[in-house]
Amino acid sequence: IKKIGVLTSGGDAPGMNAALRAVVRACKYYEIASIGIMHGYEGLIHDDMIELGPRDVKNIINQGGTFLKTARSEEFRTKEGRQKAYENLKKNDIDALVVIGGDGSFTGANIFHQEFDVPFIGVPGTIDNDIFGTDYTIGYDTALNTVIEAVDKLRDTATSHNRVFFVEVMGRDAGFIALNSGIASGAQDILIPEQKDSVEDLCNSLERSEETGKKSSIVVIAEGEQLGGVYEIAKQVQARHPEYDIRVTVLGHIQRGGSPTCQDRVLASRLGIAAVEGLLDHKTNLMAGIRSNKVVFTPIDEAIKKHNEIDEELIKVANILSI
Ligand code: F6P
Repeated sequence: IKKIGVLTSGGDAPGMNAALRAVVRACKYYEIASIGIMHGYEGLIHDDMIELGPRDVKNIINQGGTFLKTARSEEFRTKEGRQKAYENLKKNDIDALVVIGGDGSFTGANIFHQEFDVPFIGVPGTIDNDIFGTDYTIGYDTALNTVIEAVDKLRDTATSHNRVFFVEVMGRDAGFIALNSGIASGAQDILIPEQKDSVEDLCNSLERSEETGKKSSIVVIAEGEQLGGVYEIAKQVQARHPEYDIRVTVLGHIQRGGSPTCQDRVLASRLGIAAVEGLLDHKTNLMAGIRSNKVVFTPIDEAIKKHNEIDEELIKVANILSI
């Protein structure tokens, strides 16, 4: 391998820049070339790439987003799109790819590999923490910290007005952000897709806390939960308790931005280097991840298809603390 192409794809996540920096500098360290592919797979299809050296990635370790930009490429889903991508790959003498993204991005890389035998290693970059084969994904820790900072602020106003706040957080189909940020921000209840919840249970929890003298509450709700969405839940609770002063806050894309935390920067740096080392070691079709604080490689098929389980102990912690 003489030249590695690197791209970020799917939803951006804080720490992607740190991962790009690590890939580029590791390439220099091992005396191979690196090229940045713009806008995810779109840049491969439209031949939009830039040669990168170690100084081109200065001053980005602390920045959110991704300086290579990102996209969810529709064209790469087509055979014609992937054919164009392969031709540009050859034209630019790219021998292997590092794909930083989530399961959608890995699925694309996997199909590309099957069709054209292009070696690649995935690096998990998503705030959702929903990728099998790693304890943490890049961006998750920063998103959690963004959520708790926001909920701390909501708590101030909730307390001052004796209000009940329903806060929707991201995570797509996974409840990792909700469960962990809910515990960390002292939520009265946490609704996640992995658990069967009901409005009745939620009301019971709010009533119980009221009986013990609580005047305001925070409820953290994962966007993927199954009860019809945060506004519907708020409506149903309000119908049962007209006396509650309820407000809804959807945190939205604020969770995807901001300077990465120390944990995300270190994780991104380790995984970016591991990806380059893996490729130089002739590994392919794998994802570099972190398990029990050790770098591990997981077959990409497993990373895409399997799911990390929600930790039952965390659910117990949340339940005990909402007494
Ligand atoms: O996968 C990251 C994520 O932020 C999810 O939590 C969310 O469901 C989705 O992306 C939002 O996607 P978009 O930025 O395309 O609206």
